[in-house]
Amino acid sequence: MKTMRVQLESGGIDQIRAETVIVPTLRRGETPSDLPQGLAALDRRLSGRLGDALASGDFKANAGDRLVIHAPRGGVLVRCVLLGLGEAESVDDNALRELGGHVGREFKRSGSDRIALIIPPASELAADRSACLIAEGAVLGAYRFDRYLSRTRSDKKKKEATTGRLDLCFVRAPRSLASLRRKVAESVEIAGCQVVARDLSNEPPNVIYPESLAREARRIAREVGLFCRVLDVPEMTRQGMGAILAVGQGSAHPPRMIILEHRPRGRSKTRRGKPETLALIGKGVTFDSGGLSLKTAAGMPEMKHDMSGAAAVVGAMRAIALLDLPIHVVGILAAAENMPSGAAYRPSDIIKSASGQTIEIVNTDAEGRLVLADAIHHAVSRYAPSALIDIATLTGAAMVAFGPWATAGLGNDEALLGEVRAAADATGETVWPMPLLDAHEKAMRSKVADWKNSAGRDAGISTAAAFLRGFVAKTPWVHLDIAGSGMTSNQTPLHIGGGTGVGVRLLTQWVRSRAS
Ligand code: BES
Ligand code: MN
Ligand code: ZN
Repeated sequence: MKTMRVQLESGGIDQIRAETVIVPTLRRGETPSDLPQGLAALDRRLSGRLGDALASGDFKANAGDRLVIHAPRGGVLVRCVLLGLGEAESVDDNALRELGGHVGREFKRSGSDRIALIIPPASELAADRSACLIAEGAVLGAYRFDRYLSRTRSDKKKKEATTGRLDLCFVRAPRSLASLRRKVAESVEIAGCQVVARDLSNEPPNVIYPESLAREARRIAREVGLFCRVLDVPEMTRQGMGAILAVGQGSAHPPRMIILEHRPRGRSKTRRGKPETLALIGKGVTFDSGGLSLKTAAGMPEMKHDMSGAAAVVGAMRAIALLDLPIHVVGILAAAENMPSGAAYRPSDIIKSASGQTIEIVNTDAEGRLVLADAIHHAVSRYAPSALIDIATLTGAAMVAFGPWATAGLGNDEALLGEVRAAADATGETVWPMPLLDAHEKAMRSKVADWKNSAGRDAGISTAAAFLRGFVAKTPWVHLDIAGSGMTSNQTPLHIGGGTGVGVRLLTQWVRSRAS
């Protein structure tokens, strides 16, 4: 994976060596007609054109506004881009992240391989936090998924966009450049892990299927120092994982249970004298045709993204390893392809999960909860985690209820749900609660088995969660349904559409909060 390099510059504005300079500009009153503080040196390099442009009043500096000023020919500096931030009071984390997104897009727009960004003076915005948020946004905004395009733009341009360099410059250098450098590097690293998740989610299903997902997980594990173990069909059969095996049995690509493990290098968090373990479980259905309960043609193409939960776990585990967070974390990807065939599982089949509980299949399209049931049981019985989070593109109902704008969060432990929501708020990924009632569990009970795998359309998010609750035993647990937030056709400054990589930042943040 190639992401941009982000560098903190300690020199003044006259030392900028980039061909594009971006100046985020706050709106002051009607129009920002005077030069922002400290930019006289830049204006000189632009032969006064920056001052002229601002004096004209054409640039209002509303959020999203953009004005390009070209520099005199012959110098290193080719252009200066003013990006509007809106009124200072309205500038929050998200505005800064989105500003970073616009910065990232400049790489794609201009083909520049080096862009300098002038962080607004500390008197106006907290330089530390804004530098981190802008850097994070820039990595996400520069993202593209174009590896299968043979020749649209020049190859040169492509290469530059993915390996570009962003210089962060300051009007007034912050007090501790070293500590800021570390924080920005972490933000860039975590955003890079979100990019890894996006790539996995966006890869087509003929490229990412359970075995190749396992290969990728292994490769990434080796790269960052995670332990990786892959359970194949004979091993899963030995462990009685009848649920994931049933989902995978109709496919030419056999299922895999992929286990990633972060064992901290130094001291590690303990709980009542024993090392504490956290578990992250991702739904890894690499393609969901619905199986014999076949989906409609219209609903099928997006189903390559049905492994976005697993992708988020890979991304988060990679970040956790890179940051070497001082706590033991196990990530499990429940990988299967849900296909119709003569070997496929059928509606009316009764299967036995690894936990020993039996499940009547009433709809082969409710497969996510089945692969998760065995993964959750594996995590709980093998690792006895003090908390477990599963993340899954589980229900169309979550897509309808939340669209791309929020993730449904349910669980059996209010405190843990609070922790997860706090982590999500900190990273700008909204998690919203839904009810989980005994009535939902009752709706999932079968007359002929311990469970059935679907209760139909009513309360789809909650009934799916009630089923999962049956497999966590007493473990504090939160379920995140990212069916809406994990994939989208919406374009935003941070996102080109497709797999969003949602969950990487929040899971990393949650583990980090548990580790401290
Ligand atoms: N992967 C789908 C859920 C989904 C749908 C995610 C649309 C993203 C967009 C899941 O496996 C599924 O098919 N769920 C069914 C469950 C039903 C049969 C109980 C659903 O939500 O319709
Ligand atoms: Mn399905
Ligand atoms: Zn699915």
